[in-house]
Amino acid sequence: MYPRLVGLLLLILSFKQRVYCLQLSNCNNTEVTLLRDTEFLTSLTLSNCSLPHLENAFFVRFDHLLHLELQYSGLSDLDDFSLNGLSKLQSLSLCHNNLSTLRSWSSEPLGALTNLDLSHNGFRKLRAKSFQLYPQLQTLDLQGNQISQIEEDSFNGLSHLKHLHLNGNKLQHIDGNFFRGLHRLSSLTLHHNLIKGIEMESFESNTHLRSLRLDQNLLTSLQFLSQRGLARLVHLNLSNNLVQKLEPLGFSKNFELQDLDLSYNNLTNLSKEALSGLDSLERLNISHNQVEVLDTESLGTLVALLQIDLSSNRLTTLPEKLFDANTQLEEIILANNQIRQLSSEMLFNQNHLRYIELAGNALDDADFLQKLSPSLNRLSLYVDLSSNRLNSVGLSSLLHFRYLNLADNNWSCAWLVENLVRKLPASVNFVRPWRVINDWSENITNIEGIDCTEGGSNRSIILLDVSKVPQEKTDNCECVPTYDESNPSPPPLTWPKIPTDRFDSRSVIIWMLVAIAMAFAGLRWLRSFVDRNEKRKLGTKELNNMCVSKIQWQPVRNDHERS
Ligand SMILES: *[C@@H]1O[C@H](CO)[C@@H](O)[C@H](O)[C@H]1NC(C)=O
Ligand SMILES: *[C@@H]1O[C@H](CO)[C@@H](O)[C@H](O)[C@H]1NC(C)=O
Ligand SMILES: *[C@@H]1O[C@H](CO)[C@@H](O)[C@H](O)[C@H]1NC(C)=O
Ligand SMILES: *[C@@H]1O[C@H](CO)[C@@H](O)[C@H](O)[C@H]1NC(C)=O
Ligand SMILES: *[C@@H]1O[C@H](CO)[C@@H](O)[C@H](O)[C@H]1NC(C)=O
Ligand SMILES: *[C@@H]1O[C@H](CO)[C@@H](O)[C@H](O)[C@H]1NC(C)=O
Ligand SMILES: *[C@@H]1O[C@H](CO)[C@@H](O)[C@H](O)[C@H]1NC(C)=O
Ligand SMILES: *[C@@H]1O[C@H](CO)[C@@H](O)[C@H](O)[C@H]1NC(C)=O
Ligand SMILES: *[C@@H]1O[C@H](CO)[C@@H](O)[C@H](O)[C@H]1NC(C)=O
Ligand SMILES: *[C@@H]1O[C@H](CO)[C@@H](O)[C@H](O)[C@H]1NC(C)=O
Repeated sequence: MYPRLVGLLLLILSFKQRVYCLQLSNCNNTEVTLLRDTEFLTSLTLSNCSLPHLENAFFVRFDHLLHLELQYSGLSDLDDFSLNGLSKLQSLSLCHNNLSTLRSWSSEPLGALTNLDLSHNGFRKLRAKSFQLYPQLQTLDLQGNQISQIEEDSFNGLSHLKHLHLNGNKLQHIDGNFFRGLHRLSSLTLHHNLIKGIEMESFESNTHLRSLRLDQNLLTSLQFLSQRGLARLVHLNLSNNLVQKLEPLGFSKNFELQDLDLSYNNLTNLSKEALSGLDSLERLNISHNQVEVLDTESLGTLVALLQIDLSSNRLTTLPEKLFDANTQLEEIILANNQIRQLSSEMLFNQNHLRYIELAGNALDDADFLQKLSPSLNRLSLYVDLSSNRLNSVGLSSLLHFRYLNLADNNWSCAWLVENLVRKLPASVNFVRPWRVINDWSENITNIEGIDCTEGGSNRSIILLDVSKVPQEKTDNCECVPTYDESNPSPPPLTWPKIPTDRFDSRSVIIWMLVAIAMAFAGLRWLRSFVDRNEKRKLGTKELNNMCVSKIQWQPVRNDHERS
């Protein structure tokens, strides 16, 4: 008797504990009001519904809700107390609606709410104390609105706020009082606004700020960086602004900074002290600026630097000792400049390099690759020297890199033929894609070619992989010379033969491996299928957090009525 009673009790409990989330789409106000047994719901998602207006106490029957989403539903107006009763609510999303006025929408605090998403609405202005009834908020998302005005004390009382998103709005100026009192704020996104100026005290009380996005604005000055509140910043994005000049010691207070993105600005020169103080900096991006001049000591204090991107600038030379202090460097990206020469000692002290990107420059020698540090692991080194003006390189010491791209250079034909005769490893690439019209079909074929110069004229070597070319006239053709009609250069110089007639024992092995792998995959699937069935039998616990759509919701309700 006793065990049976306990069993019954468990059954009731487990039924009561069923946790449901309900997702409705294309619904309307009437349908939501007619929902029954709403007290079981912990999560409700209404999307693409037609709900322009919510009356007072609309959710009062949903008093166990933890998560509520109401999106893409044309919501433009909530009565003053329409969120009343949601005392357990932890996350609320009203994104992608038509809201324009922010109020609390409740008569008492939503004391459990930690996550509020109001993104992609039509808010223009944040009024003082807007969020006073949401005292526990940790994440507030206001991106994609039209906010141009933030009144003093708008965020008053949000002492737990950690993440604030204000990107994609119309802010022009950051006042000293906007973020006052947000002592726990750790990330702030302000990108994609129209910010021209930032007051000096703006972040004074945000001493926990670790990540600040200010990219895609109209900043010309970075003076605000020296305030005390930004001393613990780790990630700073200033990409896509109008900064022309870095003041000496401008970053001297940001000594915890690890990521600095200055790409797409108007910098022309990096002076000696422009970056000093950035002792912890690991990744520096100055690509897409107008930098012509780098001071020898400009990177001198960046002892932790792992990655530097200076691509798409106007560099013509680099100081020989530029990287001397940066002994941890793994990636150097200098693509798309006009660098004519690199000192051969330049990389001699680098023991951790993995990636050197120099494509699109004007280098005519690659001697710096002959003088790499003896302790550098060449097997993991990736080097791109494509689209330069190299005539020849000492290949023998470069054959064991992870990858070496030498395509599209000014190779001497004699040197090239001599070096192509010996078998190069697959890690060395000379070829670039090439389009020709071939003899076998009218179609243009994409093949691979190498350019070289001989006696002042340009020539091309075309590498033809017979297996890739559509063959119509003959089946056995392996090496019929073709003429490159689209390119009036002399006929190709070499024709690698590709044997196709030999019985390939490797493919048999590969097929066997494939068969074995498939058998294993089948077994595993079978087992997971069995497991799943077993779990299903194990009872209702698995139903926790299960989502039901509108159609499935009805039978569940009937079950309950029957019991
Ligand atoms: C709400 O939707 C139901 C079913 O789709 C429909 O019968 C009803 O007329 C709609 N009510 C309103 C007010 O549009
Ligand atoms: C709702 O509408 C949006 C945009 O019209 C669409 O991307 C989304 O897939 C729709 N969602 C549902 C659940 O119908
Ligand atoms: C939102 O409001 C704008 C104008 O105020 C209107 O053009 C648009 O259709 C509305 N969107 C929805 C989904 O109701
Ligand atoms: C900085 O923002 C730009 C967009 O403006 C983005 O492309 C880039 O990845 C960001 N940089 C970092 C380091 O996250
Ligand atoms: C930034 O540099 C570009 C290219 O040199 C120039 O067209 C633009 O006017 C500059 N912008 C400012 C604000 O100086
Ligand atoms: C580089 O900038 C500094 C100050 O930012 C300036 O003093 C110096 O003259 C500039 N150097 C060049 C070569 O433009
Ligand atoms: C530097 O910034 C540019 C532009 O935002 C981006 O394309 C590039 O990937 C960044 N470099 C690195 C190493 O992340
Ligand atoms: C390519 O190399 C030849 C000599 O081999 C030289 O005459 C020519 O100027 C070079 N072209 C370029 C663009 O550097
Ligand atoms: C040319 O290519 C098209 C599309 O790839 C294909 O349908 C057609 O049969 C080809 N013609 C010849 C002559 O190979
Ligand atoms: C050879 O090719 C280079 C780069 O494509 C070109 O600038 C040059 O004019 C060409 N020289 C001749 C003689 O065709």
